Amino acid sequence: MSEIIDGRAMALLIRSEVKAEIEKERLEPNLAVVLVGNDPASKAYVRMKRRACEAVGIGVRVVAVSHDIEQEVLLKRIEELNVDPLVTGILIQLPLPSHINTAHVNETIRPEKDVDGFHAVNVGRLTLYSHETYFHPCTPLGILKTLKNVLGENGFVGKKAVVVGQSMIVGRPTAIMLQNEFCTVTMCDKYTKDLKRELESAEILVTATGVPHLIDPDMISVCDPGVVVIDAGFSKKGGKLVGDVDFEGVKDMVGAITPVPGGVGPMTVAMLTRNMLKAARFEKKRSVGLG
Ligand code: GUN
Repeated sequence: MSEIIDGRAMALLIRSEVKAEIEKERLEPNLAVVLVGNDPASKAYVRMKRRACEAVGIGVRVVAVSHDIEQEVLLKRIEELNVDPLVTGILIQLPLPSHINTAHVNETIRPEKDVDGFHAVNVGRLTLYSHETYFHPCTPLGILKTLKNVLGENGFVGKKAVVVGQSMIVGRPTAIMLQNEFCTVTMCDKYTKDLKRELESAEILVTATGVPHLIDPDMISVCDPGVVVIDAGFSKKGGKLVGDVDFEGVKDMVGAITPVPGGVGPMTVAMLTRNMLKAARFEKKRSVGLG
C-alpha cells in the first residue's frame, strides 16, 4: 500500500509548534515581503504566506512596488528594511521582472534577515557545513522534513536520491541537503537525455521542473518499489493545478508520494514561519548583546 503524504496536516502541526514557541519566548517577529509587479501567482503566494504568518503571531508588512521599478530604487528599499529595527525578516517574492538582477537583489538582504535563505552567504554555509547556520531555503526544508517523517531521522544514509530540476529555489539546495544526510545524489533536469535510466533503483525522487507530468508510470517502474516521491512542481494543465508527476498513474507503484496541491506547498509556508521564529531568536540575542 502506498502512503499518500498529507502536507497540510504536517504543516498545521509545525505552525502550531511555532505559535507556541513565539508565545512562550514572548517574541515579536515581523516579516517584510517585497512584491514587485502584479503577477497573479506571486500575489496568491504572498497572500498564503501572510495568512500563515499572521495565524502564528508573526506581523507581516507587504511592500508592493511597481513592475517598472528601477533596480537601484529597489535595492534602496531593501537597504531601508535591512536597517529597520522593526523588521525581523525580509522576503522578496520571486520571480522578478527581467530588468532586475535577482542575484544582486538576494545579496542585498542582510544574511541574518534572509528568511528565504537565498543570500550567497547562506547558500555557501549550507554547501560547506552540514549543520544549520542562518537560514536554509523554505521548500527544501519542507522536503527534508517530509522525508524525515517517512524515512526516520537516520533513514537517508546510503540511499540513492534523484533530484530533477536545478533551480536555486528548490533543486540545488535540496540536492545539497540530501548530500549532507549522506544520500548518493544524482542531479537531473528536464533536459536530461535519458531520465528513465537515471531513475533506475532510485529510493528517493524529488522533482521540481514545472513540466506537467514529466514523471510517468514507465519512469517510476524502474525506481525501487519503495521509492518516496516528493513532487515540488506546480503548473496548470487543462485549467487544473498539477505537479511534475502523473499522480493518478503512479500512486499505487510507490512507497509514498506527495499530492499536488496539498503536499510540498503547505510545508514551504510552514517552514517560512519556522525561519521567522529563528530570525526572531537571532534578533533577541543581538538585542541583549549575545549575537
Ligand atoms: N517563488 C517561488 N517560490 C519561492 C520562494 O520559496 N520564495 C520566494 N521568495 N519566491 C518564490
